[in-house]
Formats: sequence, structure tokens, C-alpha cells
Amino acid sequence: MLIINYKAYEKAIGNNSENITEKIRNSASETDKKIVVSPQTADLARLNGFELEVFAQHTDPVEKGSHTGSNQLKALEDAGITGTLINHSEKRLEDKVIEKTVKKCGKEGLTSVVCAQSPEECRKYSEFNPDYIAFEPPELIGSDTAVSTAEPDLIEEAVKASGDIPTLTGAGIKSKKDVEKSIELGCKGVLVASGVIKSENVEKEVRELCEGL
Ligand code: G3P
Repeated sequence: MLIINYKAYEKAIGNNSENITEKIRNSASETDKKIVVSPQTADLARLNGFELEVFAQHTDPVEKGSHTGSNQLKALEDAGITGTLINHSEKRLEDKVIEKTVKKCGKEGLTSVVCAQSPEECRKYSEFNPDYIAFEPPELIGSDTAVSTAEPDLIEEAVKASGDIPTLTGAGIKSKKDVEKSIELGCKGVLVASGVIKSENVEKEVRELCEGL
């Protein structure tokens, strides 16, 4: 699985979210590998027609009702999500909120991807039983150094610490080689942001990353 996180990059918000998704879809149509896109909440509904799975970047585990400013799960589901990132390094949550969100996703049949900054966190979050754990060392996020090159031992530890929960990894991933190495170390997929969003040739970049899966 390749998850492409749009974050709040200029090249991937508003109308641009549709432009970049079209390019990603073009590459997706040439591969049988699973590609998931994760746009800003405001852009979720724009991406309904692209035949790609869409995950929220963040979800609040609140019921329908008086919760101003929340990303309510059912509302996101109506906007087309099939899953959500939880506790991304740029949107950290308390353990009890993470656990509650994972539970709610399970009830709704949505895929939960809990992000972890260390093998220790992988172990702790695996007890919440999410569908995936995504190991991302924060210092490498957005950098030109791929986690699979800089921290292969930590990836192996993270995979082990996650137990039965399939592990993904991300941070600095930009090439087929980075993806191949991550898979070799035991991961089931990768998360990428800047490598795709800032690429001069998004179609080619996505194609290459998929080749490594
Ligand atoms: O969620 C993926 C992200 O944090 C990795 O970012 O820019 O290092 O690919 P980047």
C-alpha cells in the first residue's frame, strides 16, 4: 500500500487537490498496487470521482452533536473516506483519544492507521489493535534522507514491536529503492508526502514508488 499524504501543501489543496489526484489516478490505473490519497478535510468531497481510496489526515472520535470544529467520523465517511490517519507526528493525540478513534473506526468498518514515532510507541499502539501502524521518525519527515536508508534497524524494531499489526513506514521516501528497502525490512507499505507532492513529474514518481512495493 502507498499512502500519499497531501498535508497542507499548496500544490495539493483546493483546486490543486483535484489536479494532483488526477495525476496520481493516471499512475494508479497502470498498477495493481493499492494507492490511498489523504487530502485536507476541506477537499475530501472533491476527490470522490477519482476511484482512489481516500483517508482523512485526522479524525475526532466524537458523536454527532455539539462539537464545533471537529472532524466527525460519520461526516467524513459521508464525504467519502474509507480510513484515516491517526496521531500523525504533525497532529499528535493523547493515548485515550487514539484508542477511542481506533475503536470507532473498527465499528464503522474504516481502516485505521496509527502513526508512531518510535518502536516503543509501535508496541504501545499495537495494543489498541489498529489495522496498521505507521512508523515515522519525526526528524526525517520532509527531509531528503529516507527512513529506510537512515534507520533500517529501527524499522526492523518497529515491525517487531508492532506484533501482528501490519507496519508501514514513512519519512523522506522518494525512490523505488527506498520503498523496496522498506518492504525488505518487513513493512507492508509506505507513506509519502513531499516526494510526490513536490515532484516535477508526479505521475512518474508515483509509478516508480509503486514499482518498489
Ligand atoms: O505522512 C507521511 C509523511 O509524514 C512523510 O512525509 O515528506 O517525509 O514524505 P515526507
